[in-house]
Amino acid sequence: MAKDRRKTKSKYTADRQMPGAFEGETVTRRRFMTGTTHVAGIVAASAFALPALGFAIGPVFEKVEVRWEPVGVPDDFDDRTYIPKTITETPGIGEVGKTTVYVRKHNESIDGPQKDEYDGFIAISTRCMHLGCPVRFVPASERFICPCHGGVYDFQGKRTGGPPVRPLDRFYTRIRNGKVEIGPRYSVNSELKRFSPRYPGEPLDGIGQYLYPSRPTARKLPPPQS
Ligand code: FES
Repeated sequence: MAKDRRKTKSKYTADRQMPGAFEGETVTRRRFMTGTTHVAGIVAASAFALPALGFAIGPVFEKVEVRWEPVGVPDDFDDRTYIPKTITETPGIGEVGKTTVYVRKHNESIDGPQKDEYDGFIAISTRCMHLGCPVRFVPASERFICPCHGGVYDFQGKRTGGPPVRPLDRFYTRIRNGKVEIGPRYSVNSELKRFSPRYPGEPLDGIGQYLYPSRPTARKLPPPQS
């Protein structure tokens, strides 16, 4: 019986007495227009959403090369003061990709025991951890000073005054072929514990490390390989 009923069901909307049906139609105009509007809406939404999604998650799949750049021989550096060196942090964009790094030898009486082979030299970033202005090391006071809003950091780059939210970032260092090399940047909390790079203004103490996870655009790098 059920088979017979299916057989007799017409494909024409008029035969099925659908509202808005016209003779000879298999789809009502109302249903056709509704479907067309939905498809147009999906296409329009995709035009906005897909590029945004691509920009957001694209960097996750980007292969980031770990670069090491020689800045001199070990005897060029002292453990009581910093020597400024220029390195290329972002290759391929000319002078804009260069940055100044303050480098000195590890000093056990100040820094404690060396953590690992990447800690034999201390390389401090000049980017202020308030809003990113370039800081300057002042040898007379053994302080890093930010000219923008009065941020002050001690000899190890820990914040001692002003609005910065954490110590100055650092770079991994190592010795290869008799040269001191500067590697990827990393961030530190107030105990100088290493974290993957964060932006200025993002604290790393307490729940700050969870509130401000490292983003791909902050150049999250794999641990350096020896
Ligand atoms: S940017 Fe350095 S204190 Fe504001």
